[in-house]
Amino acid sequence: MILVTGGCGFIGSNFILDWLTNGGESVVNVDLLTYAANPETLASVSTDARYAFERADICDAAAMAALFAKYQPRAVVHFAAESHVDRSIHGPLDFVRTNVLGTATLLEAARAHWKSLDADAAAKFRFVHVSTDEVFGTLGATDPKFNEASQYQPNSPYSASKAGSDHLARAYFHTYGMPVMVTNCSNNYGPRQFPEKLIPLMIVNAIAGKPLPIYGDGMQIRDWLYVSDHCSAIARVLEAGRPGELYLVGGDAEMPNRDVVHTICSLLAKHRPGTDYTKQITHVTDRPGHDRRYAIDFSKIERELGWKPSESFASGIEKTVLWYLQNATWIAHVQSGEYKQWVEKNYGARA
Ligand code: NAD
Ligand code: DAU
Repeated sequence: MILVTGGCGFIGSNFILDWLTNGGESVVNVDLLTYAANPETLASVSTDARYAFERADICDAAAMAALFAKYQPRAVVHFAAESHVDRSIHGPLDFVRTNVLGTATLLEAARAHWKSLDADAAAKFRFVHVSTDEVFGTLGATDPKFNEASQYQPNSPYSASKAGSDHLARAYFHTYGMPVMVTNCSNNYGPRQFPEKLIPLMIVNAIAGKPLPIYGDGMQIRDWLYVSDHCSAIARVLEAGRPGELYLVGGDAEMPNRDVVHTICSLLAKHRPGTDYTKQITHVTDRPGHDRRYAIDFSKIERELGWKPSESFASGIEKTVLWYLQNATWIAHVQSGEYKQWVEKNYGARA
C-alpha cells in the first residue's frame, strides 16, 4: 500500500479519489484534520476496503513510527502542509513547524522503515515530496520560466518553509540514498479547494453577493493547473520518476489575477444568470512581499515521463465553477467559525 499525508486537504483528497478510481492499490491517509481538512470530501471512499484513515500529526515522531510499522507502505506521497501564503504572513511559526519539522519527522520515520526493508523492497521504495513553484521566488515579465535549474529564492514564510522541506528531502537522497523525489507545481484549482485561495474564494463570494477582493492592481501572474492534472503528474513521478530528481509541473496557463476573476464572473453569468458579478470586484491593499509572476517550464517531466496537462484553463475553470454551483452544502460546511474569523483577520484591515 501507499501512505499519503494530508489526504483530507484539497490536492491530497483529489489524489486519493483519482488513485482509487484508477484502480490503484490500498492507501492509508494520514491527516491531522486542521482547518484546511474536510473528511466529508472522502465520504465516497470511506467504505472502500482499499482506504484507511489515521488522524495524526506529522510532527509526532512516535505516531509516524507506529504508522510505518502498522502499514508497511511501499511508498509515501507527502502533501501535508500549511499551504496558504496569507496565513503564513500572519503566523509564520505554524508553517515552520508543519512544513519543516513535520517533513523532517516524516522523513526520519520513512528512513527507519526503509532501512528495515529487504534489499529488493528498499530499492523499490519511493518517497514523493509534493512542493511548490513558489520556492523559486518571483519572475519579471520577460524572464524565462522556472525550470529544474532555477535558484531557490523563496519570498514568503510559506515558500521559505517549503524550500526548507525541499532541502531536507534532497538531503535524504544525497546523504542516505533514500529514494526521494520532489515535485514543484504551479497554482492548482478545481473541485474541493478551501475557499481561502483565489479561485474558490472568488466563486463563493460572487455567489453570496460579497465583494471580490483583488490584491493591488491584479496584474500578478500565476500559471494555473487543474488539480487532476497535478495528481496524474504525481502518480507518474511515483511510478517512473528517478530518485533524487526534481520535477517541475505546470499548466502552460499564465494569467493575471484580474483576468481569472473576470473569467469567473463571465462563467457565473452564463450558468447563474441575472447578476453582473463584475460589479462586486474591488481592489484592496496588496499582499506584503507579493510575488509578481510564476511560470513553469515542464519540459523535463514531459520528455522523461510523458506527462503533460490534459485540461485547458477554459475547460478546467468551467468545470470548477459548475462544481461549486452544485455543491452548496460542501461550501456551507467549510465556512465554519474559524473561516469567518480568518476572513475578518485577512480582509478586515485591508483598505
Ligand atoms: P491544503 O491546505 O488544502 O491541505 C493540507 C492538508 O494537510 C490538510 O488536510 C491538513 O489537515 C493537513 N495537515 C496540515 N498540517 C498537518 C500535520 N501537522 N500533520 C498531518 N496533516 C496535516 O493544501 P493543498 O492545497 O492540498 O496542498 C497540498 C500540498 O501541495 C502542500 O504541500 C502544498 O505546499 C503543495 N502545493 C499546493 C499547491 C496549490 O496550488 N494548492 C500548488 C503546489 C504545491
Ligand atoms: O504557486 C503554487 C502555490 O499556489 C501553492 O504553493 C500554494 O499552496 C497556493 O496557495 C498558491 O499560492 P498563491 O499565493 O499563488 O495562491 P492564492 O490563491 O492565495 O493567490 C493567488 C493570487 O491571487 C495571488 O497573486 C494573490 C491573489 N489574491 C489572492 C486572494 C486569496 C487576490 O488577489 N485576492 C485574494 O483574496
